[in-house]
Amino acid sequence: WLGIASFGVPEKLGCTSLSLNGRQKDLCKKKPYLLPTIREGARLGIQECQSQFKHERWNCLFSPETTTSLSTNPSAITGEPRSPIFGYELSSGTKETAFIYAVTAAGLVHSVTQSCSAGNITECSCDPKLQSGGSASEGWHWGGCSDDIHYGMWLSRKFLDGPTGNITGKAGRVLIAMNLHNNEAGRLAVAKLMSVDCRCHGVSGSCALKTCWKTMSSFTKVGSFLKEKYENSVQISDKLKKKIRRKEKSQRKIPIHKEDLLYVHKSPNYCVEDRKLGIPGTQGRVCNRTSEGPDGCNLLCCGRGYNTHVVRHVERCECKFIWCCYVRCRRCETMTDVHTCK
Ligand SMILES: *[C@@H]1O[C@H](CO)[C@@H](O)[C@H](O)[C@H]1NC(C)=O
Ligand SMILES: *[C@@H]1O[C@H](CO)[C@@H](O)[C@H](O)[C@H]1NC(C)=O
Ligand SMILES: *[C@@H]1O[C@H](CO)[C@@H](O)[C@H](O)[C@H]1NC(C)=O
Repeated sequence: WLGIASFGVPEKLGCTSLSLNGRQKDLCKKKPYLLPTIREGARLGIQECQSQFKHERWNCLFSPETTTSLSTNPSAITGEPRSPIFGYELSSGTKETAFIYAVTAAGLVHSVTQSCSAGNITECSCDPKLQSGGSASEGWHWGGCSDDIHYGMWLSRKFLDGPTGNITGKAGRVLIAMNLHNNEAGRLAVAKLMSVDCRCHGVSGSCALKTCWKTMSSFTKVGSFLKEKYENSVQISDKLKKKIRRKEKSQRKIPIHKEDLLYVHKSPNYCVEDRKLGIPGTQGRVCNRTSEGPDGCNLLCCGRGYNTHVVRHVERCECKFIWCCYVRCRRCETMTDVHTCK
């Protein structure tokens, strides 16, 4: 798949060869050394999106042009709807848009914070507040390197929540508010999932004394958390009053939380290709004949049915270690049925 490979390519590109918006260009010129980390954040976010959605009709795969432009141009993910580079999902105000914005903003926090902890960025480091102190009576103290997400949060905001150009009109303003909210929800997910790790010291692992440090959860956990937020995302009114409101009038009293993902428009069913909208459709997707879930042939193929191919796998099997020193294996052939949507 083109995307992952191409993410590594534009390493040599400088700030000027990227089409960044004004504020991003400033940041890039002042701190060009941040670019690899920003790019890594974008890659992390999109990769996690694809992993979370791999069994669903919408599987977070963009057209190759889009993916390439994302790699050369991380700014394509901004608070700006109707970015010409992106397809339907980024500008459509759907739940899928919400997830992309949140997971990318979170990816940026995660990758920047890791760089901070690794000592790769001079402006930030391990959390200085958590390098001493603790509770002697409970037998633990802070030590090691605690992840400090403040700089990552700041940078993600600075880079992604920038000026939104000359988007006008009420519809545009709602989408901008939605995207900014979802960016922040993504970042808050990283903050919320911070946890404490400890290591035991003491005679033969007695754990009489522990060293503890704060650490971010794996990005997979952040992705799962955001996926759940996606499943429970909140539809908001497309009429922007002073602040964002739920679409459902009867539910307007229920507060909208900072961590909620918000969307404006209902999603299409993603079943059939629509080139104009950049929707690939599910034709040709591999489905699971026995699954009742979204990856089942029935749901994934939208009732169109599926084709079955027999695929031959050859692998080494029944390997034996022969003294001394080699391994002898047999070649085993297996046939499996692969089903793809019509
Ligand atoms: C830190 O920088 C080194 C050298 O450039 C690189 O190999 C490493 O992957 C970086 N680590 C992080 C977490 O960014
Ligand atoms: C934004 O404004 C500039 C000039 O002020 C104009 O050339 C450009 O077409 C506008 N872009 C959009 C998306 O309206
Ligand atoms: C297909 O779905 C079934 C039931 O959910 C599951 O047990 C099986 O592992 C799946 N097969 C593949 C190839 O994913």
